[in-house]
Amino acid sequence: MPLVKNYEVKQNKTGLAASPPANRIMVLGVGSFAHSIGRALADTGADVSTYLTRNYGHFAPSLVGKTFSHETFPSPVPLLSKNKTDVAIPQSIDWAMQPWAKNMVESGVGIFSPTGEAMRIERERDFARELCARFKIPFPKSFVASNRIEAEKVLEKNPQPFVIKNPLCSPTSPVHTILCETVSDTRAWLRQVNYAEGVFLQEYLGRAEAGHIALVSGGEIHSLVTNQEYKYAFNGNMGIVAGAPLGGLIERDENDKYGLARELIHPLMPWLREAQYHGPLQVTAIKRGGKWHVIEYNIRIGITSGPMILRMLKKPAEIILRTARNEKLKLEFKNKLNFGCSLTLAGYGYPFTQVRGPQLPLEVNGKFDCDVWWNEVARGADGKLMTTGHRIADVSALAPTLKTAIAKAYANIRKIRVAGSYFRTDVGQSLWPPGTV
Ligand SMILES: Nc1ncnc2c1ncn2[C@@H]1O[C@H](COP(=O)(O)OP(=O)(O)O)[C@@H](O)[C@H]1O
Ligand SMILES: [Mg+2]
Repeated sequence: MPLVKNYEVKQNKTGLAASPPANRIMVLGVGSFAHSIGRALADTGADVSTYLTRNYGHFAPSLVGKTFSHETFPSPVPLLSKNKTDVAIPQSIDWAMQPWAKNMVESGVGIFSPTGEAMRIERERDFARELCARFKIPFPKSFVASNRIEAEKVLEKNPQPFVIKNPLCSPTSPVHTILCETVSDTRAWLRQVNYAEGVFLQEYLGRAEAGHIALVSGGEIHSLVTNQEYKYAFNGNMGIVAGAPLGGLIERDENDKYGLARELIHPLMPWLREAQYHGPLQVTAIKRGGKWHVIEYNIRIGITSGPMILRMLKKPAEIILRTARNEKLKLEFKNKLNFGCSLTLAGYGYPFTQVRGPQLPLEVNGKFDCDVWWNEVARGADGKLMTTGHRIADVSALAPTLKTAIAKAYANIRKIRVAGSYFRTDVGQSLWPPGTV
């Protein structure tokens, strides 16, 4: 299928070929996700708009293009067809549970996400476990329990630490991953969690974690990057595992130098074919006893890594569109952007999101020389920026070496001042290279 439908090369009076029409892209999301993905694509010539799926983070996407609120437009489908959108990019998997999801799939618009059965690999944790068993991919010992009594029985029979997770993944799940490093920690948390959707108990495997992100399209798996996320809220990997990471690293890795794709993604090929999978596929893994184990699959390029990946690619809009259409890909990376570092500026109260502060002024001292994506930030009536929530901004820098990417991100995050805000100052000092703690 041609990439751009109905495109003919026309000669104008000067004899120059007219350029092809821009790809039309609609991001379904908010905040720094929509800001960063939108900007990275708009900078390569795409025509970008945003369907605002949540009630916060509306300002930043408006800096990129048109925005449409879900409150005014209960479904994005009429907007997608009216704007002749080529491809929609969802921020999270919950789009598939919206009343308009079926309509969107049937409309034939490109969707940069697997659909239907293929989504189960992220949505249902026990399904991912089953797939790993089928293809002999190491996966930690795991159990589903529907209430506290069942969960406590699992612990009694298997006296070891368990990570407590939601069995069904959604940004609105009643349970967010709770890391328990001892049996008594596990017992204590099992008394506290919400069992409305049950719990998924996964054997705790230690801290030697890494991730790998690939695109599946045209019957092939294309590795993009190996990545690390700094999920603990505080320096030294201390405190709780926050809802979203405080920092991230990516390394361009189309040759899969750490073997994560070979061991944990490629064996899924028969299922990927059966499920007609096309879209991003990310694996998060932990190394134990010299072997990588899958702890989770995601079907997105991710809020932390995604924007950096798009910046690394020569033609990100084309790659997204071709993936949405399940066509063959030819990835082209920009020269020398081998590493990326992303840092999050967290606001008053984070990571304990029950604690809330007022809207606070945000000052920028100097000029940024890397990407800065606003998240819970708005412009006040006086024209000045202010914070409106817990996660203020993501600052991300790409460079030929890891050291320079990290230095650049830190030099820029230090230019932002908000009362009570903080960021981790040790990204890159642990958990890299992959497999180390
Ligand atoms: N079995 C496990 N052993 C050790 N740490 C884990 C385990 N499962 C998850 N974690 C930690 O918790 C984080 C979040 O878990 P994950 O399964 O990726 O769920 P989600 O991203 O949906 O919160 C992981 O990135 C990892 O740091
Ligand atoms: Mg995860």
